[in-house]
Amino acid sequence: MLPAKMLDLLCLLSALTATTNALTCRVCIAPLMDLCEGSTMDCPSGQVCALSVTEVSMVGAYIKNSEFAMSCAPKSMCNTPASASTPNSKIKFNTSCCDRDLCTPSLPGLPEDTFGGNGLTCPTCTSLKSDWCYSTQNMQCTGNERMCLLESTHVYAPIERMVAVRGCATKSMCDLGTQTLTYGLLNETLRFQCTSGTTSLHCHHLLLLITSFSLIKVICL
Ligand SMILES: *[C@@H]1O[C@H](CO)[C@@H](O)[C@H](O)[C@H]1NC(C)=O
Ligand SMILES: *[C@@H]1O[C@H](CO)[C@@H](O)[C@H](O)[C@H]1NC(C)=O
Repeated sequence: MLPAKMLDLLCLLSALTATTNALTCRVCIAPLMDLCEGSTMDCPSGQVCALSVTEVSMVGAYIKNSEFAMSCAPKSMCNTPASASTPNSKIKFNTSCCDRDLCTPSLPGLPEDTFGGNGLTCPTCTSLKSDWCYSTQNMQCTGNERMCLLESTHVYAPIERMVAVRGCATKSMCDLGTQTLTYGLLNETLRFQCTSGTTSLHCHHLLLLITSFSLIKVICL
């Protein structure tokens, strides 16, 4: 017979290992939640099951594209509503999570549309050929989109392509950092890089040093 203390310790140990056991989550990407069926995966330890909703809308074109994605995710990804804008498009994103095997998280709400400038101006451009774009146009940011964003997408498979977009974004969008998505044939890397509006100050100092106009345009991102 094991002494009672020893039994206690064993119970504690198994309770601890039970909580660190890997979850099994559903994995899918689909344009409609109903179509989001697929395989399952065992999560890296500490991760939970996540459901992300991404909505892209074109201003004035009444086009809305949604994407539903389920997978394992770090807890820091849960409940992180984010949005980004260019003069003619808006992307919204949010994630909800649950932590039982094969659970389906509740559908996360998306940030509301905001109107009215918040004082920040960001450079804006789009390139469908490169992971960088050269900006000749500025836009007024609204709501809590208080950062200037450069989002670069590099799709490696099934067909290699690159997209770069610059505009206004919430800090939560910037915090996404670099994300690699692999699912089925898809293999892509998304990179979110931001500057706060204070870049213009930084830029000012450079203006004093640099006289060539074309150089200034390159440096004042
Ligand atoms: C984002 O998702 C979380 C988790 O579902 C939810 O609690 C929160 O209200 C959502 N945020 C917005 C802005 O809808
Ligand atoms: C995705 O593509 C990159 C670049 O070609 C490669 O290094 C990486 O191994 C690929 N990942 C998967 C899961 O195929």
